[in-house]
Parts: sequence; C-alpha cells; structure tokens
Amino acid sequence: MKILFVASECAPFIKTGGLADVIGAVPKSLAALDVEARVMLPAYPALGPLAAQGSEVWRSDDLQGGPARLVACDAEGISLLLLDAPHLFDRPGNIYLGSDGQDWPDNAQRFGALSFVAAEIAAHGVKGWHPDLVHVHDWQAGLVPAYLRQMDQATPPCVLTIHNIAFQGLFDPSLMTSLGLSTALFTPDGMEYFGRLGFLKAGIAFSDRITTVSPTYARELMQPEYGMGLEGLLRARGADLSGILNGIDLDIWNPEDDGCLVATYSSRTLKRKAQNRDEVMRRFGLEATSEGPLFCVISRLTTQKGLDLLLEALPTLVARGATLAVLGSGDKELEAGFVAAAHAHSGAVGVIIGYDESLSHLMQGGCDAILIPSRFEPCGLTQLYGLRYGTVPVVARTGGLADTVIDANEAALTTRCATGVQFSPVTTPALEQAILRTCDLYDQPAVWSGIMRRAMRHPVGWDVSAQTYLDVYSSLADTPASAE
Ligand code: ADP
Ligand code: GLC
Repeated sequence: MKILFVASECAPFIKTGGLADVIGAVPKSLAALDVEARVMLPAYPALGPLAAQGSEVWRSDDLQGGPARLVACDAEGISLLLLDAPHLFDRPGNIYLGSDGQDWPDNAQRFGALSFVAAEIAAHGVKGWHPDLVHVHDWQAGLVPAYLRQMDQATPPCVLTIHNIAFQGLFDPSLMTSLGLSTALFTPDGMEYFGRLGFLKAGIAFSDRITTVSPTYARELMQPEYGMGLEGLLRARGADLSGILNGIDLDIWNPEDDGCLVATYSSRTLKRKAQNRDEVMRRFGLEATSEGPLFCVISRLTTQKGLDLLLEALPTLVARGATLAVLGSGDKELEAGFVAAAHAHSGAVGVIIGYDESLSHLMQGGCDAILIPSRFEPCGLTQLYGLRYGTVPVVARTGGLADTVIDANEAALTTRCATGVQFSPVTTPALEQAILRTCDLYDQPAVWSGIMRRAMRHPVGWDVSAQTYLDVYSSLADTPASAE
C-alpha cells in the first residue's frame, strides 16, 4: 500500500514539537508492515541542502505568487517530497512565527500551497507513483481533503490526524478565492468556523476518517471543555473519529545506546544514571547537597502545559528538599517567571531557556522524575521518553498522559504495576500533593527502583499503533494491505 503523508514538521529535519517526532517515526514503522509512505514537507532552510540534491518531480511557475517545485529525495530512512517554494518557505527563524513572535502573515498561503500541491499529487500521482490514500496532519495540511472534494474525478481517501485542536489555522474567508477554494464549501458543516475560514475544520469536515493521538483525547474532543468549538462536528462524525496512541522511536530514544548521555544504562545498571544526574546538576547550576529527587521539565512554555501552576508550586517543591531543572521556551511571561524562580531558589532550581535536543536526552537520562502538569495533552511524548529512561513521569490525568502512566496509588503499588504519578484536578494544590507524593516514594528506595524498572518495561514503541493505522488505511483504500 502507498500512503502520502502531508505535514509541516518531521524529525530529525525540522521540529518544533511532538508532531515532528511522530511524522519521523510512523513511516519507518509502517515500512515494516509493507506500507510505502512518502512524506511531503515544505523545504524550509533546514531542508535546503537536501532539496538541492533531490530530483524534481513537479513544478509550477506560479504557486501563490512565485515559482515552486517538488523534489524527491531519501534521507534518514524516510522518503521525502519537499515543496521548494522560496517565496513561501525560505525564511529564517521559526517555521510558523516571524521574529516579532506573531504568526507569519501569509501562513494561509504557505500551508494552503502545501495542501494544494499535496492534493494534486494525491489525485494525479507523481512520476508513476500513485498513493492509495493520503494521511494529513493538523491544520497545516487540513485543506487537502477540501481540494480533493472539489475535483471532478475519483480521488484517494483521506485520513486526518488531529495532534492538537488548539491550533486551528483560522483565516479571513476572503482568501478563499486566491486559495482556489470553492465558496460552496464555506458552510457551518464545511470549512466555516464562526465566520472564519478554518483549515482544521475543513480537514475534519472533508476527511474520510479522523484520528487523534490518544483514546482519552478522542473522547475529550467531543466535550465542550476540550473541543474548542469543534465538539459538535466531531460528535456528528461519530465512529469516524478514533484515538490511536502515539509511540516513540525506540532507536533514537534508547538509554542503552544514546550518544547524548554521559553514561548509558539499562534497567539492570540503573546506578549508572547517577553520572548523568551529576552532569544535569552541573549544567543547570544545581547543588548536589539536597536529598530529594531531581525533577525536570522539557517543554514548550505555554499555559497548555500548566507550567504557571508549577511556578506556584515551586516553594513546596524546594521546601521538601527536591530540585528542578527546566528546559523550555515559549511564552515570554513564563520564561521570565522561571528565570526569576531560578534566582530566587538558586542552587535548587535551574533554568535554561531555549531548545536543545541533545540536552533533552541528557535530562531524560539523568533526572529522577519528569513533571507534566498539562491542562490538556493530546498525547504527550516526554512522559513516554521518561518511561523508557526510568525517569518517573508525574502527570496531569488528561489525554494521552492518562492513557500512558499508571498512578502509584495504594492498589497499583500493592499489585506492583505503578509506573508514575498522576494527579487531578489540574490545580496548584493537586500538583503540590503529587510532588510531595513523588518525594515520599523517592524516599523508599526499593519502591522507587521498582517503579523505575516497571516504567522502563512499559511498551512505548510504535508496533501496535502502526498496525492500527494500517487497519484504518485498509478499511478505506481499495488496495489490500499486502499488495505490492
Ligand atoms: P508538544 O508537541 O505539545 O510540544 P510533546 O510532548 O508531544 O508536546 O512533544 C514535545 C517534543 O519536543 C518532545 O520531543 C520534547 O522532548 C521536545 N521538546 C520540547 N521542548 C524542548 C526544548 N526546549 N528543547 C528540546 N526539546 C524540547
Ligand atoms: C501535539 C500535542 C502533543 C502530541 C503531539 C504529537 O503537539 O500537543 O500532545 O504528543 O502533538 O502527536
């Protein structure tokens, strides 16, 4: 079976969050199931050298105001189709935001163009390669099924995966004409979202199937508390919506063979984790005198992630003798809050503002616990990395966090199945209690190492979910899964 993936990020080439990790990992897992996936991405500057080496498979003199070409190349075990359109994608800095921190003013044109070209390839194929199905991700690829719907020819089925409904791609409907969209699709059941043009809404309305990245988030999305205005449409899609849990790339995230660690380790050599811990302490300017656990945060600093609550809970964490290392960037107020906290609790709280992939590996390898107090979390990947590295996840009971961590309550401890700590509701007092509970568990070495070892055994790979995606594809596409 042949699948065209369409997304705005793909690790290790270009990443701002978990979407990239997923797009980088799923095609490889599907390959083991005889699925040939190609990933269409914009040729941002980071992909320029690859695009320059690839072979041109499609071109246009005018794609949203400039020349564009599609270039095929293979890298890191992934087959890529790069949309090389310099006027849209060759610009410095963040792929979604200008240097002023605001969305690029032409994001509708940029990702509309990506979706338009993807729909062309889906419908007409490229150099003899005809996908059996298109799998689009998030709002940036949400228009693909709308373009397919407009075509007066048979087109392949389309699956949309919602990685985060908080990002919807909302624009002025007057752009529809220049985007080449039929205004007949601008209805409340179609791509209209409270008077605006909704890219994600188009994806939900016109895809054949919708998935999201955990079963709990799939249920939450149908509630007004989480659906962000799209809950009605999602409820109406009924059985077309399902949750397929994310996994992680077990080769890239492997404590036994991770080049970013000072000392690699397995569940049999957990003592070696201490060398990584010392290095994290050093990098974050923390004092090794404290007896308590070393917590970490590796995250976008946003209110979604509940990190304002952590700022409020910090005095409790520090008073209990724990330490905290924070790596993140995002919301300027939260950045300033954590920097101020590091000054106020010098030696106990260390903060690095920025994005550092290799440091994030070292932190997973060296910290005792990872804090994820998200208000909502479609799946979350850092708790999965935590499980794999024996870095005990302390998480809010929501979305994928609820689906992947087993809370160390009395019953779970007695039956030896706990892998972390969950708390609910997502409030400062509940977070404080979870931190104190984690410290109590840490004080009992036999209990703590039992949790670490079980966490490391918890299955976090892609095997099961890749098969589930294949089941979804097979139910929609004509080609049987085993063909070709
Ligand atoms: P989201 O996609 O909502 O940001 P996820 O938990 O799914 O959340 O994925 C976040 C990904 O980004 C993880 O791979 C995490 O390690 C990484 N990450 C987040 N912030 C940073 C940072 N400051 N430095 C390095 N990696 C980061
Ligand atoms: C989004 C979500 C996150 C999820 C990731 C990958 O960024 O916020 O929870 O893990 O996508 O699916």
